[in-house]
Amino acid sequence: MSERLIEALGRLEYRGYDSSGVATIFEGELHRRRAEGKLGNLKTRLKEAPLSGTVGIAHTRWATHGAPTECNAHPHFTDGVAVVHNGIIENFSKLKDALAEVGAKFQTDTDTEVIAHLLTKFRRDGMGCLEAMHAMLKCVEGAFALAILFEDDPATIMVARNGPPLVIGHGDGEMFLGSDAIALAPFTNDITYLNDGDWAVVGKTSVQVFDIEGNVVTRPRHISLATADLVGKGNHPHFMEKEIYEQPEVIARALGHYINVNDSHVTTTSTDIDFAGVESLAISACGTAYLAGLIGKYWFERYARLIVEIDVASEFRYREIPLSPRSAALFISQSGETADTLASLRYCKAHGLRIGAVVNTRESTMAREADAIFPILAGPEIGVASTKAFTCQLAVLAALAIGAGKARGTITDDEEQVLVQSLATLPGVMRQVLNDITPEIELLSRELSHYRDVLYLGRGTSFPLAMEGALKLKEVSYIHAEGYAAGELKHGPIALIDENMPVIVIAPHDRFFDKTVSNMQEVAARGGRIILITDETGASMSKLPTMHTIVLPDVAEIIAPMIFSLPLQLLAYHTAVVMGADVDQPRNLAKSVTVE
Ligand code: F6R
Repeated sequence: MSERLIEALGRLEYRGYDSSGVATIFEGELHRRRAEGKLGNLKTRLKEAPLSGTVGIAHTRWATHGAPTECNAHPHFTDGVAVVHNGIIENFSKLKDALAEVGAKFQTDTDTEVIAHLLTKFRRDGMGCLEAMHAMLKCVEGAFALAILFEDDPATIMVARNGPPLVIGHGDGEMFLGSDAIALAPFTNDITYLNDGDWAVVGKTSVQVFDIEGNVVTRPRHISLATADLVGKGNHPHFMEKEIYEQPEVIARALGHYINVNDSHVTTTSTDIDFAGVESLAISACGTAYLAGLIGKYWFERYARLIVEIDVASEFRYREIPLSPRSAALFISQSGETADTLASLRYCKAHGLRIGAVVNTRESTMAREADAIFPILAGPEIGVASTKAFTCQLAVLAALAIGAGKARGTITDDEEQVLVQSLATLPGVMRQVLNDITPEIELLSRELSHYRDVLYLGRGTSFPLAMEGALKLKEVSYIHAEGYAAGELKHGPIALIDENMPVIVIAPHDRFFDKTVSNMQEVAARGGRIILITDETGASMSKLPTMHTIVLPDVAEIIAPMIFSLPLQLLAYHTAVVMGADVDQPRNLAKSVTVE
């Protein structure tokens, strides 16, 4: 049993975590093993002291409340109860005080422990397991996916969902639970997805689902497309490198879904959002996906003449933005599960907007709640730092913006053809660039690894790209980096410029090139070290001395963001490798952020 649980945890490892644990019921008693750090530590514990049993729960924890210690690792035990939890119990402090007053002794710094104490209290008050579960759910506020064992009901597992995903797998004479279908893929692809507010009792061969009121409800079963094959690194030492080099193939697949290269038109992939009729567009996302959305804003405004409201989802959801039901909204998310993005989606849905989900995971919550799904088809992205998902998001947004422009009559048939033909060149140019620039980036990374701070500058779509370059570098190498609009340099960041501050300037030879060169001059005049990323024409026109110039081929403006992403990704990757960082699972980061 514990081997299967650990194998399933291994399949969720890519999401990021800092401790892990497992509990089973054996001969009527709860037993657990927990360990700090990587799953390997838990495996060692289990080798020293194996766990038996046919019913069990396991968890990888990403610390929110309390340090990532063994004591704070899940499962949490109280008298006769074991709990694993994803999410945050927002009213835990109030509950903790109330429980402490009636004698509960807390062992951990976590919010989760209140769940176990509440259940124990309700059992002591004389409630059955089912009743105690329902009573507990009425007390807790916040986000949770829960799996709970009761010592005196050893044949079942109780589960509940409010926010973070939870799936139930139907096996042959056995049942499974997991945070996603990938974890269950080796065991079953016959899946029931729980809705928010649902809770369930899972037995050996059955499941009974309840809504928040305690009414029995039916949730459909789906055949999941998640594959049981563990995605490998191929010949690459890290997933991040593999995913960078996979981009020509996955972009070709994504584009194949949205453009027809034979007649150079965007293909209509969904009639659920009428871009021709909408008043404006709202876009919301987090992190790298937000930066893809910011580039998308430039495209939708330029090609489709659509007003775009965009914000990071954690702000968007609370800003009380006046939204018109005649508008559409796009939510961009690799995982399709990010809590803030999902909340923004629901906010827009409640305001009557048509909802599009630009997601990599078609079975995700966002995909299921949207009116239209725009898959990015990047394949599983395991490296925590997003690379191929970013460029696939860009390719899809570019195609959607061109399609919207055509539908709205803001670009002509000829203009559409030229843009689509440019998009079609992406896979080939990406392949060539990846081949050409890798050796020089490896050398440059060694130099960059000696600096503590790096500034990235760009204009137009190169401005969000500058922020993405900085985000990538800081998250994998831990070098402090910031991305700025080049025109903002004079308004503050220029104060930082000296010989210890490399400035990476992203400057394709586009409408903004001359202005960006002026900003470079301002940097050079103050002794700043410039790393210029430009194209052949740009390189021939810039006469400024640089620390290094990376020269990419001349490409059409619409594909420049995807092409210029490549040196940024490689630079972050190789710098992190030189510095000996854990590239695929950087410290403190999680792949799927299902809490606020
Ligand atoms: C950075 C990165 C994150 C994610 C963000 C949103 O490399 O990967 O910034 O982009 O957490 O995640 P998704 O796209 O799953 O909503």
